[in-house]
Amino acid sequence: MARERQPQLYRGPQRSTALKETTVPNSTIPADSPDDSDRRLWLGAATAAGGAGLVATAVPFVASFAPSEKARALGAPVDVELGSLRSGELRTVEWRGKPVFVLRRTPEMIDALARHDTLLADPRSRRSEQPDTARNALRSSRPDLAVIEAVCTHLGCVPTFRPTPGSPDIGAQWPGGFYCPCHGSKFDLAGRVFKNVPAPTNLTVPPHRFLSETVLLIGADPTA
Ligand code: FES
Repeated sequence: MARERQPQLYRGPQRSTALKETTVPNSTIPADSPDDSDRRLWLGAATAAGGAGLVATAVPFVASFAPSEKARALGAPVDVELGSLRSGELRTVEWRGKPVFVLRRTPEMIDALARHDTLLADPRSRRSEQPDTARNALRSSRPDLAVIEAVCTHLGCVPTFRPTPGSPDIGAQWPGGFYCPCHGSKFDLAGRVFKNVPAPTNLTVPPHRFLSETVLLIGADPTA
């Protein structure tokens, strides 16, 4: 019998003091089964954050050395190392207390994004939120890299990473993307929302820019 999944709801910014990252290799995701791995990893990261908070409380001397982490918790930009992110892998990082997906898309994923505009509610992102540098079909200034807030635009659940096309439980036309099990909203691998789902707009693309080929800065002015 299928295991009933409990939705995880994003409950707003948390005053955590440490940046947390989790990575989901594409190859570890079962092809045709609901994928809760990213959610488990995110929950694990949240647990680690609680532990980090306790340590910071117990050792105030150490905490005094971390002004940048405090600033980070309040919304300062966070940098993400991309050199170890392989093609097809998803990494989840935290910015302003929110999970943010960083996905290195494969050439096949990029090609697929051009083939299902008619299924999308806002394929050109006219009603959706992203920096101008990401106002295009791929919603990114770099085709291979997607940077997307992992917060469903319906009621705030964290979508799951479902990269395998045609998953039977989502639909034969599924091209691969992000699936929100809370109420069934679907987003493609650019965070664009499908028609006839509860979510009204595409997933938000946060402000960001690439400092180099291997360093991403989330929360930074994209035009600076
Ligand atoms: S919160 Fe995602 S579909 Fe409702």
